[in-house]
Parts: sequence; C-alpha cells; structure tokens
Amino acid sequence: MAGERQAWIEAPEVVRLFPTFLWKCRLRPELYGPINESVLKQLEEMHRELPPLERGAAWQSGHGLHTLEPFRGLVSCIGEALDAVLAFLRIGVRDVAITGCWANVNAPGAVHRMHAHPNNFLSGVYYAQVQEGADTINFHDPRAQVAILRPPVTELTAYNTDQFVVTVGVGTLLVFPAWLPHSVDANRSERTRISISFNAMFTAFAETMGRPLWGAP
Ligand SMILES: [Fe+2]
Repeated sequence: MAGERQAWIEAPEVVRLFPTFLWKCRLRPELYGPINESVLKQLEEMHRELPPLERGAAWQSGHGLHTLEPFRGLVSCIGEALDAVLAFLRIGVRDVAITGCWANVNAPGAVHRMHAHPNNFLSGVYYAQVQEGADTINFHDPRAQVAILRPPVTELTAYNTDQFVVTVGVGTLLVFPAWLPHSVDANRSERTRISISFNAMFTAFAETMGRPLWGAP
C-alpha cells in the first residue's frame, strides 16, 4: 500500500538469486589489429563471388570458420575467454570444443531477430567491424513468467528491465549462456557491421556429463 514506510522496516537487503552472466572481454589493439586484418580479408574473399549486399540485407558465412587458418588467432582468444568463464563458474570440466563459428555481415538497415543457440553450453560474439549506430546487442530476459505482469515503472533498472543493451566496439568478445535470447537492432550506420559468432559445448558430453548425476540404487 502507498504511504509512509513503517518505522520498523530497515532498507531491505537485496539478495541476488540466480544471476545471469555475460562475459565481456576487450582485446588489446595490438592483438585485434592483426586478427581483424586476417579475418576481414578472408571474409572478403569468401564473399567476393556473391552479389553486393542490398540495404537491409545480411549475409552469414558457413559454420566452420574456426577450422580455417585465418581464424586461428581469433579461435585462440575465444578459447581463453571460454576457459575464463568456466573457471568463473567453478565448472570442473574445462574441455570444451567450438561446435560452430560463423560470420554475420549486416548491411546498413539489417536486423537480427531474437534467437538463442540450442544444444550448446556457451555462445559468444566477436566484433571485427562495428561503429556508432551499429555497436549494440540486446539480451532479453529468459524468464517467460516475468512478462505476465509488467506494471509501469518510474525508472528502468537492472531489477525491472526485460532487456539489456550491451555496447560493443571493435575487438570486443562477448561470451554468454547459449540459452540466453538475444537480438540485434537495425544497423543505423552507413557501413557494414561484421561480427563472428560461435558456440561451445563440452567435448565429451555424452561420456562425462550426460549420464545421470545420481547413483544407481
Ligand atoms: Fe546469436
């Protein structure tokens, strides 16, 4: 009920339950410089045979970029970022494999609607070419129940929002849970936006983790 706060109530402690994490790494320019040169050159070659992207159009490469030599430097950075996340989460099995890695080339006006990456543990994106007007990614609240009642708020905060907008730059590497829905707004710049997405899964999932966690009776 509206009114004065009861005198006996102290400012309540906010207990964070089940926080969702996003790992944001920034590669140093001396590192991302050569990586981007190599990656962008390779993508240019892959895309050369195709017609130029029209306004609002997007092109996605094949899913095996992590197996190609020009992506070796990037794959190494991704591997380190994945290991850091697994260490942060105190996960005992650190042997993960990149199961897919692909480029997203978005012309001005292009959007990427909301989606998640099933059948993997972690996902991520590396930004090789982003600029003002094309430098954000949206993460959406995965708790469907929260949307049932959404009363008006006086201020958007981390505790009442249903979407986080993360700003990225050239050399940013994000890692997040593969189940976390995300989307990309329309490219409002006049230049192409180029990012490299990837998925990672425990290498020996069936052998080491897929079995029941409880013992046989
Ligand atoms: Fe994605």
